[in-house]
Amino acid sequence: MKNLERFITQRLADTGNSPDQLLQHLCAIQNFASHLPQTAVQQLAGQLHIPASQIFSVIDFYTFLHRQPRGDFNIVFSDNITDRMLGSQALLHSLCERLRVRPGEPRADGRVTLDLTSCTGLCDQGPALLVNGIAVSRLDEKRITQIARLVEDATPLPDWPAEFFSIDDNIQRYDMLLGDEIINGSAIETLQAKGADALLDTLEQSALRGRGGAGFSTAKKWRWCRDTVADTHYVVCNADEGEPGTFKDRVLLNSYADNLFEGMTLCAGIIGAGKGYLYLRGEYLYLRDALEKTLQQRRQNGLLGKNILGDRDFSFDIEIHIGAGAYICGEESALLESLQGKRGIPRIRPPFPVNKGFRGQPTVVNNVETFVNAAKIAVFGADWLRSAGSKESTGTKLLSISGDCSRPGIYEYPFGVTISQLLEDCGAKDVQAVQVAGAAGSTIPPREFERRIAYEDISTGGSFMIFNRQRDLLHMVQNFSHFFCHESCGFCTPCRVGSALMKDLVDKVIVGHATRYDLTEMQNIGRVMQQASHCGLGVTAAKPVLETLNKFPDIYTKHLANRSYEPAFDLDAALEVSRQLTGRDDAGAHISYEPETQQQEKP
Ligand SMILES: Cc1cc2nc3c(=O)[nH]c(=O)nc-3n(C[C@H](O)[C@H](O)[C@H](O)COP(=O)(O)O)c2cc1C
Ligand code: SF4
Repeated sequence: MKNLERFITQRLADTGNSPDQLLQHLCAIQNFASHLPQTAVQQLAGQLHIPASQIFSVIDFYTFLHRQPRGDFNIVFSDNITDRMLGSQALLHSLCERLRVRPGEPRADGRVTLDLTSCTGLCDQGPALLVNGIAVSRLDEKRITQIARLVEDATPLPDWPAEFFSIDDNIQRYDMLLGDEIINGSAIETLQAKGADALLDTLEQSALRGRGGAGFSTAKKWRWCRDTVADTHYVVCNADEGEPGTFKDRVLLNSYADNLFEGMTLCAGIIGAGKGYLYLRGEYLYLRDALEKTLQQRRQNGLLGKNILGDRDFSFDIEIHIGAGAYICGEESALLESLQGKRGIPRIRPPFPVNKGFRGQPTVVNNVETFVNAAKIAVFGADWLRSAGSKESTGTKLLSISGDCSRPGIYEYPFGVTISQLLEDCGAKDVQAVQVAGAAGSTIPPREFERRIAYEDISTGGSFMIFNRQRDLLHMVQNFSHFFCHESCGFCTPCRVGSALMKDLVDKVIVGHATRYDLTEMQNIGRVMQQASHCGLGVTAAKPVLETLNKFPDIYTKHLANRSYEPAFDLDAALEVSRQLTGRDDAGAHISYEPETQQQEKP
């Protein structure tokens, strides 16, 4: 305990005692002590001048933070639908048996803990798991047997076979973004030569739109931020990449980090920011050391830090903040809360981050791919981006393709590519459906395979999951509904309650206990979630259910216990006593529970 106390004291001495650092302190302490004991929380509370209760509430918000000790080997199994399609459940079962452990329950000797998490961003080389934060991909029975033995022998991670930890970029198709290289510093030099106004105009002419999913104009965002008068401005890169089935930012962070930091520095030069943050999802912890090295190299080369490339008026640096397993922290305002060391609860907007973002100051938040595009536009010009894609969707899009195909991986295509083209190129056969844009995206049936990937048609952050005709699509819906129920931050009722009800109803269909009435209920709940939720998570969480109910009704009806509604309890009869007491027997005093759809579908 003395060691832990010293560790915390030293850490605070090194990094300062700003409460913004709370989440980073908690991650570091957990890394040191395997969990977050009460004594550590009390010490932090005292030294950061924040209540211990606030620190506990932050710990309880993030899936990767724990109050109870974890095992020496803390294993987290990836549980996206694509992992399941590759046999992850049988492998999980096998590992549990070999290690004599159950998910969520630490083994008595403290050797190992095993948990499930949603997508770890390795769908192209799954099934996958994280052990003490480090990714192990391409699991099979042989690898599981080896892992069990290494854990039982207490073999330290550095002595595990190196190939376990080898993560491939797996780029299957290059286009301009991945293919056209720029020299480090060249975007900053262009900024220095032409000035911020000219560069902002170039960005505007390129019509670059955000690659994180929403597709907002990047030039507009940067201009609004720049025009907001304030003491200071910030640049934030959203590298949370939590959308199930998305892994393209992993590849950019691994092999194009210089381009990303160049784009962030360009943004800083244009909006007048002195500080930037890379918010890296906890599942990508294994990328951090290499990213830190790239940052250090850029500082040494005068591309970051004080007086960038000799410009006395331009100083900017980037800090990496690590997330802790909360999908909602990809939503930009929740991300900013998390960056300030708090629970990732989405803010009420307006004000938008460009006016009031990190620490209440104007902040640009962009996706990794957006910054990489911006750096290249600065060097190659607006026409470079406009040479590909359509008028509304200029340039290319990185797609993370996984599921039932022979060549999963990263594909870069000009906007406008059709789904059928993508399926052909990645070797997909006998396709039943494609889920584009992740769990919150669209389920596309074969009759829509001529639709295009573009903001004006099917917009996506990059996830593209393929399901052949042997799959029961309802398992996909079930996986996503469990995901949303788990990831709802709980702030607003429609999402918190709606996602739980939806999950239970999907489970009810799967086990064969549901009736048509339940399907109508799912539609009603979904509509309430869409209309009344506070943020994008709740608004889109019902989409997999609503879309499949509409486009693939058979996947539900074949599971129904009974095509008609069979109430387990006669509510109208139960009200008879009340009717007698009040002397009423009119229509309004009776309950009718015949749902609309059932009435229509009666033979
Ligand atoms: C629930 C939710 C999760 C999100 N996750 C991400 C994410 O992981 N990465 C990302 O870039 N944007 C994500 N977004 C979108 C961000 O809120 C924001 O629009 C984006 O970072 C802006 O960057 P861009 O303009 O470059 O796309 C998410 C939005 C929601 C509602
Ligand atoms: S919609 Fe869901 S995730 Fe968003 S604020 Fe409400 S409860 Fe939280």
